[in-house]
Amino acid sequence: MPKVSVIGAGNVGSEVARRIVEKDLADVVLVDIVEGVPQGKALDILQSAPVEGFDKKIEGSNDYAMIQDSDIVVVTAGLARKPGMTREDLVMKNGQIIKEVSKNIKKHAPKSMVVMVTNPLDVMAQLCWKTTGFENNRVIGMAGILDTSRFICFLSAETKVPADKIEAVVLGGHGDAMVPLIDYTFIDGRPVKEVIAEETLAAIVQRTRDGGAEIVKLLKTGSAYYAPSSSAVEMVDCILNDNKKILPCSAYLKGQYGLLDVFIGVPVKVGASGAEEIIELKLTDEEKHELHRSARVIKDTILLCEK
Ligand code: APR
Repeated sequence: MPKVSVIGAGNVGSEVARRIVEKDLADVVLVDIVEGVPQGKALDILQSAPVEGFDKKIEGSNDYAMIQDSDIVVVTAGLARKPGMTREDLVMKNGQIIKEVSKNIKKHAPKSMVVMVTNPLDVMAQLCWKTTGFENNRVIGMAGILDTSRFICFLSAETKVPADKIEAVVLGGHGDAMVPLIDYTFIDGRPVKEVIAEETLAAIVQRTRDGGAEIVKLLKTGSAYYAPSSSAVEMVDCILNDNKKILPCSAYLKGQYGLLDVFIGVPVKVGASGAEEIIELKLTDEEKHELHRSARVIKDTILLCEK
């Protein structure tokens, strides 16, 4: 029976756990430092099983030993962004948390794959990879699926074309530094530039960049978790079922796109071995420039975190 551990039983973590058991993907262990919270949430989710009709087990704990033999560990532990806070503001605090979590993954689930969700995403993925010492295919960050999904939602609302008839790819760092590939964006098979006026498209791109912040502003306490958890579970599904789908994820680059030693959002073939292949798309000069700028921001943030 596949086993997925979810670290952090907050909004994102508990939604990830719920989606995994409801989709009958795996048994779940939910871990948090706050006593009672993972146990309470796991029990609550478990009690929905007779109604929802799933038969997977879910358990909560404060003990990392419970993550033993996990196929995948999804990391959502950390602080969520508060209004006015940028993802980078979070780096110092979440950096400490991720180092501690990663040491525990290395100790108790040394054969697992890691799906990183904690922000700033690309930086936390890199920190986890360094701390665990895992091969680079075994750590993947969830960001591009969410950014792409937000972009498609806004494109769909603008054009009234259903989301499943829209194709788009968003690369780069998560959030402010993302790079939407306009030449790879199609509305019902037509290039987006032919369907949406330049100014409107620019506004949609900006709204996608600010997608997380828009929700933080509305919620006032806490940040997005429904769409982030969907995106993380899509990656879990791909790994457990060896789907080999091409998904935009944060993965370790060793020369691809002219970038070295950095986790950043790129199209990745995701399967049983995690990030199995980085797909190199042809970019315009401007997109290349933006991707490299995005990588510089990530590298600078990593330095900040390592101080
Ligand atoms: N070990 C385990 N759990 C921890 C640790 C730790 N060292 N430190 C904090 N946590 C737990 C908190 O107790 C809390 O339950 O992480 C959980 C975070 O939950 P929320 O505050 O609800 O945050 P959430 O909205 O779930 O976001 C978590 O995901 O999308 C990202 O930006 C988001 O980085 C944030 C993360």
